[in-house]
Amino acid sequence: MLYKYIPSGVKFKRKIPRHIAIIMDGNGRWAKNKGKIRIFGHKAGFNAVKKTVKFAIQNKIEILTLYTFSTENWKRPKLEITSLLKLFLFALKNEMQHLNKYNIRLKVIGDITSFNKELQSYIDHAEKITSNNNGLILNIAANYGGKWDIVEGVKKIVTDVQKGFLCINQIKEEIFSQYLCTNSLLPVDLVIRTGGEKRISNFLLWQIAYSELYFTDVLWPDFNEFIFQNAINFFSSRKRRFGKIIKN
Ligand code: IPE
Ligand code: IPE
Ligand code: MG
Repeated sequence: MLYKYIPSGVKFKRKIPRHIAIIMDGNGRWAKNKGKIRIFGHKAGFNAVKKTVKFAIQNKIEILTLYTFSTENWKRPKLEITSLLKLFLFALKNEMQHLNKYNIRLKVIGDITSFNKELQSYIDHAEKITSNNNGLILNIAANYGGKWDIVEGVKKIVTDVQKGFLCINQIKEEIFSQYLCTNSLLPVDLVIRTGGEKRISNFLLWQIAYSELYFTDVLWPDFNEFIFQNAINFFSSRKRRFGKIIKN
């Protein structure tokens, strides 16, 4: 199965990404193609999320970060925003017990203070009851922006310097990383974006400095294990140089 989708001639080393981040784009177009309203696409997108979490576990991925709502998505019509937030609440309520069953540790990254109190308390609860799980780390990026993350990190680090917990000359890249939403998690190995656009749309910025980027035209609700496998195979075929020179 794993070998099936590798383009011929690619020298295959079984390198599996440890941290995958996905920009789940294309729900609206998927619905439009079917003559339905956009929220229909978001609901179908939630089913794709559930399947993707399973593929990640089956493929022994350690961290999966999913972009569900950007800081710019507030610019959408009010009805779409409220429907998306309702769907998020529904997902938390319904999937809570499955998270524990599959040993998943859930973390929501983003400014959740803009969400209503009910949603915030479900997020807190889901994070708490899964905090001792040691399987897949599932980061849900909700009201997340890469620029926001960096600015928040700067504010926190300045506060620590002011309080005397940290000296300016101690600030190194590794230290700064710990002030971001992703804390001390491994950097992202592979970014997948569905929906045909080839851009980052203010997703993780710092954390993808050396990620491999995989773009597919498939719309998010149609995402499946074959595309997931293709993306992993694409990753496996890359030579990651990190600025060095690697001899063949
Ligand atoms: C991605 O799908 C989901 C969110 C941004 C919430 P879109 O809603 O952006 O779908 P398209 O790109 O308009 O098709
Ligand atoms: C990116 O998709 C955000 C999410 C997938 C949550 P968008 O649809 O918002 O991005 P743009 O507007 O095409 O850049
Ligand atoms: Mg979009």
